[in-house]
Amino acid sequence: MKIGYYQFNPEFGNVKKNIEKMTSALENVHADLIVLPELASSGYFFSNKEEPKRLSEKIPGLLSKEFLRLSKKTGTSYVVGFPEYAEEGIYNSAALIAPDGVTYIYRKTHLFFEEKKYFLPGNGYEIVEVKGYKIGILICFDHMFPEAARTLALKGAQIICHPSNLVIPEYGQLTTRVRALENRVFWILANRTGTEERGEGKLVYTGESQIISPKGEIINRAGVEEESLFVTEIQPEEAADKNITQFNNIIEDRRPEIYTL
Ligand code: ACM
Repeated sequence: MKIGYYQFNPEFGNVKKNIEKMTSALENVHADLIVLPELASSGYFFSNKEEPKRLSEKIPGLLSKEFLRLSKKTGTSYVVGFPEYAEEGIYNSAALIAPDGVTYIYRKTHLFFEEKKYFLPGNGYEIVEVKGYKIGILICFDHMFPEAARTLALKGAQIICHPSNLVIPEYGQLTTRVRALENRVFWILANRTGTEERGEGKLVYTGESQIISPKGEIINRAGVEEESLFVTEIQPEEAADKNITQFNNIIEDRRPEIYTL
């Protein structure tokens, strides 16, 4: 299976330009699964509640239509972050867009910092198939909660897709390596680059998107600042091997009866 990521620097508020940038970078790339950053269409550093609403998309919209067109052309499925409009409010979401349509939308469950002012939290983790393989999606800050990745692993995920806008240097690159290792899954971290300045505030994004093997090996890691498109071949079946030694299986050795408070 050919998997990859596109790390780039979205321009705050310019949804049309960001969608054009992503789709033109991927126009001739034929893979099975490519992951893009969190809130890739809108940018991240909102300064009031109206902005995520104004920049949001009610599926189907420009983002999903453009990626669907691309998906039909390249045969690739994409996981891409965007502010999702719903009747009850706005979610920080990621859509899985495959040649046959938008097959799943994940809504971020662990909201970071001021996201709590702008977004509603999602409330669940599902597995969805791409080319017969089991995929789970987490968004950025979800990486700090081992339960999130573990839930997806227990549900059978072979690959975890992780659109991000990481701002704390090294945290996400470290935890996602550990989460891949402790769950024996492949991990695609698609982070963004660049800085966003709004008023007095400034956010610096940490780049270093990476693909991690079920043994925690770094298959590839991008630079901090560069825009980067990377695709590699993996064998998702490797995620089925949960044995650490001949006596230890990381799923079967769990003791859930003693983990409760
Ligand atoms: C984050 O969750 N965007 C840090």
